[in-house]
Amino acid sequence: MKLVIEKADKKDLDELLELSDRLLRQMMEIDKEIKLIKNHGPLKRKYYLTELKNPNSVFFKAVCDGKTVGFVFGTLKEGIPILKDDDYGNLNEIYLLPEFRRKGIGHRLMKSMRQWFKKKGVKWMRLYALVKNKRAQTAYKKFGFMEFRKIMRMKV
Ligand SMILES: CC(C)(COP(=O)(O)OP(=O)(O)OC[C@H]1O[C@@H](n2cnc3c(N)ncnc32)[C@H](O)[C@@H]1OP(=O)(O)O)[C@@H](O)C(=O)NCCC(=O)NCCS
Repeated sequence: MKLVIEKADKKDLDELLELSDRLLRQMMEIDKEIKLIKNHGPLKRKYYLTELKNPNSVFFKAVCDGKTVGFVFGTLKEGIPILKDDDYGNLNEIYLLPEFRRKGIGHRLMKSMRQWFKKKGVKWMRLYALVKNKRAQTAYKKFGFMEFRKIMRMKV
C-alpha cells in the first residue's frame, strides 16, 4: 500500500464533497438531531470552493495507491482579542473510508494538519466531537488531544 498525504485543491472538490457527505451521513446516524436543510448540496459546494481558496484554510487528502481515501480540513480562527495567544487552529472535519481506518492514516493526516498550523504560528489546535462519537474521541486522545472545555445547552 502506497500512501501519500498531500494538499488538496480545487480539482479535488468533487472527491472531497463525496467524502464529507459520507461523514455527515455518519454523524446523522450517530446523532438523530442533526438534520439537513433543503438544497444543502449547492450550498456545501459553494462553501467548500470558498474554503479551498481561503489562505486561512487547508485540506489535506490521503491518497492510497492513487485513490483518495480520506481527508482533513482545518481553519485558522481568531481567539478572544484581549486574551494572549488565543488564536487557534480549528480541525473542522476528518474522515477516512471505513476500510482504511485503523491503519495509522488518520494519524498521518493529523500530523500534516498539525505541522501546517504550527507554521501558521498558532499554539493550539481544537476540535468539536459529538459526545456519542466515542470511537473518534478514542482516536483523538491517541493523537494527543485533551478535553479542555465543555459545550452545554438547555432547551429554550
Ligand atoms: C477518526 C478517524 C479519522 C481516525 O483515523 P484512523 O486512521 O482510523 O486512526 P489511526 O489508525 O491513526 O488510529 C489511531 C488510534 O485511534 C484509535 N482508533 C482509531 N479508530 C478506532 C476505532 N474505530 N475504534 C476504537 N479506536 C480507534 C486507536 O486507538 C488507534 O490506535 P491503535 O490502532 O494503535 O489502537 C477515522 O477512524 C474516521 O474517519 N472515523 C470516521 C469519521 C469520524 O468519526 N470523524 C470524526 C468526526 S468528529
